[in-house]
Amino acid sequence: LHIALLFGGNSSEHDVSKRSAHNIYDGMDKNKYDVSLFMITKDGIIINDEFSRRIFDGEDEDAVVKEAYATMDLTSPLAPVMALQSVPEIDFFYPVVHGNLGEDGTLQGLFRLLKKPYIGAGIAASAMSFDKELTKRVLDQAGIRNTKYVVVTPDNQAEMTWDVVSAKLGKLVFVKPAKQGSSVGIHMAKNADEFQAAIADAMTYDYKVLVEEGIKNPREIEISILGNDHPIASKLGGLRIPDGDDFYDYNNKFVDASGVVFDLPVIVDEALEQEIREMALATYKALELKGLARLDFLVDENNVPYMGEPNTLPGFTNISLYPQMWNVSGIGYSELIDRLIELGIE
Ligand code: DAL
Ligand code: MG
Repeated sequence: LHIALLFGGNSSEHDVSKRSAHNIYDGMDKNKYDVSLFMITKDGIIINDEFSRRIFDGEDEDAVVKEAYATMDLTSPLAPVMALQSVPEIDFFYPVVHGNLGEDGTLQGLFRLLKKPYIGAGIAASAMSFDKELTKRVLDQAGIRNTKYVVVTPDNQAEMTWDVVSAKLGKLVFVKPAKQGSSVGIHMAKNADEFQAAIADAMTYDYKVLVEEGIKNPREIEISILGNDHPIASKLGGLRIPDGDDFYDYNNKFVDASGVVFDLPVIVDEALEQEIREMALATYKALELKGLARLDFLVDENNVPYMGEPNTLPGFTNISLYPQMWNVSGIGYSELIDRLIELGIE
């Protein structure tokens, strides 16, 4: 089976993707799979296996990309995808591209056009899951508990003052670009000044911004799902951020995770575990997810869980929870990758 492993991408999660892809590549059984690497540059151009591999092996990315570009016809309208021609035949796509133009249905549309199977959720499911507002609409319709929210866009921004928003959501809110991953552009706000600054920053990532009610002293609990029509759920993973930090932000996730405590698995009371598992599987079904997803929950002080968000191409870095939760649930790294490939083909 000739697999094209795609990584990088022109989103703020480019570097996270490189780290995830490294682990997945190393975990693939090379006796079973022929693997070509394709990096998507920060400009959104796919470069071929030879150059991608050199970057994977640690050469300076900017220098190698420049060299790759010099061999390509970048004036062609098909330049972004041209490098896929450099191998004789691709049987299967393994996208390890987080974020915009990767996890949001775009690449999935390309694979459909090329008539090739791939890992993970389809076009509509990917797009809905990557848009935090569309996700919430589906959750609300399916009766799955999630936090209250309002949407701010340039059209209604003038009316959505702190007084209006806090009257509806309370005086602790989270401001998030609707379509982003890895907590990029997310802020906590507790007063008008923080709120305005948060909206202004979030709008640099997306014209649509979600403002959610904050949950006081939440516990963060995550769960991994694997499967197509009959998905299974892993044990729960928990994480605790350093005292004084506002939330599990990009820094805690990918820059300096040393202060984060992971509980793998996290032991909670049985009723709560059961409720999270049911909510997770209901979410997976409502969003029509496939292959894999990591679902992130917040649990309040009264043990009430709120479905946070789905991640349809979750991180596979060394500290990422998706593979680790399967590991503690009895499915090791290589077996997980085999199963994901089988689920993509089925
Ligand atoms: N968006 C990051 C990669 C995650 O969900 O793990
Ligand atoms: Mg996410």
